[in-house]
Amino acid sequence: MVHYSEVGFVNTKEMFRNAMENGYAVPAYNFNNMEQLQAIITACTETQSPVILQVSKGARKYANATLLRWMGQGAIELMREIAKEKGLKEIPIALHLDHGDSFELCKNCVDMGFSSVMIDGSHLPYEENVELTARVVEYAHRHDVTVEGELGVLAGIEDDVKAEKNIYTNPDDVEDFVKKTGVDSLAIAIGTSHGAYKFKVKPGEKPPPLRFDILEEIEKRIPGFPIVLHGASSVIQEYVQLINKYGGNLENAVGVPEDQLRRAAKSAVCKINIDSDGRLAMTAKIREFLWNNPKEFDPRKYLGPAREELIKMYKHKNESVLGSAWRIK
Ligand code: G3H
Ligand code: 13P
Ligand code: ZN
Repeated sequence: MVHYSEVGFVNTKEMFRNAMENGYAVPAYNFNNMEQLQAIITACTETQSPVILQVSKGARKYANATLLRWMGQGAIELMREIAKEKGLKEIPIALHLDHGDSFELCKNCVDMGFSSVMIDGSHLPYEENVELTARVVEYAHRHDVTVEGELGVLAGIEDDVKAEKNIYTNPDDVEDFVKKTGVDSLAIAIGTSHGAYKFKVKPGEKPPPLRFDILEEIEKRIPGFPIVLHGASSVIQEYVQLINKYGGNLENAVGVPEDQLRRAAKSAVCKINIDSDGRLAMTAKIREFLWNNPKEFDPRKYLGPAREELIKMYKHKNESVLGSAWRIK
C-alpha cells in the first residue's frame, strides 16, 4: 500500500473547490504513453493549471498498470523540474482512475497510490449503481481518496460499457444519489459522448447544443456540488483534415464546440474529460510526418512533432476553453 500523498499527488477536493469558486473547469487528460504524459505536464505547468491525469482500464491493459503508476510518479518530478527551471509555481496533480468498472479495480488503484477514482455504475440499475458506488466511497474515503460517480449513460462507448442512445441524467435522482453514496463529484449525461463521432450531422451543419436545461436543473438540486463532463473533446477539425489528407479516413467526425465547453466550465462543471482530441492531434502529426518523410524510421522523429502539437493543444484548452490557466496562487 502506497498513499498518494507520499508520491506527491493531491485528491480533487481543493481543485474542485477552487474551480467552483472561480468559474472554471479542471482539465482531466488521459494518457497511455510517455509522449502524452510529457505533453500534459509541460502544458499544464507552463500555463500554471491544475491537472487530473486519467488512466483508463484500457490504458492499464495497454501500457501495464505498474508502469503507468510509476510514470505518474515521474510526472510529479518532471513538473517540479519544469517549474524550477522556468521560475513557475508547482501545480497540483491528481492521479485518477477513469471509468472504473468494479470495486476491485478501484481498490487496486487506491492501494497503489491513485488520489482519485471513478466508479462508473451508470449502466447498472439505479439501486445497484448506488450500492457499488457507496462501497467504493467507503473504502476510498478511508484513505482520503476522492470518488467520482456517474448517473445517466453517454452515447457511444464508455470503455467496455456500451449504450445504444443517450440517456440523459434525471435531475430527480441526483440528490438521492449523492446523499446515499457520499461521492465527491458526479458525472452527468447532457448530450456529450465518447470518441470522434459525437453527433450525426451533415458536413457544415452545427451539432445540437448540450442540454444546459438539464445541467441547470441538476445545479438547483445539488447546489455547489462538483459536476463532471465526459466526452468533451471538440474533435478539432484541423486534425481531422490533416488525418484525411495524409491517408486517413475519418468521415463526419464531429465534437463538442468550444463555446459550449466554455459555458459549461463557468457553471458547476468542475472537471472536463478530454482524450480523443489528444489522439487526433498525435495521429494527424504522425501521419503528416511519415507521408512527407517516407525514408524516416526513427520513432523520435515523428513522435517529437506529435508531442509538440499536443503541448500546443493542451495549452489552448487550458487558456481559452476551460479557463484553468494561471489559477495557481
Ligand atoms: O472515456 C474513455 C476514455 O477515452 C478512455 O478510452 O478505454 O480507449 O482508454 P480507452
Ligand atoms: P472524449 O472521447 O470526448 O475525449 O472523452 C474522454 C472521456 O470522457 C474520458 O473519460
Ligand atoms: Zn469518459
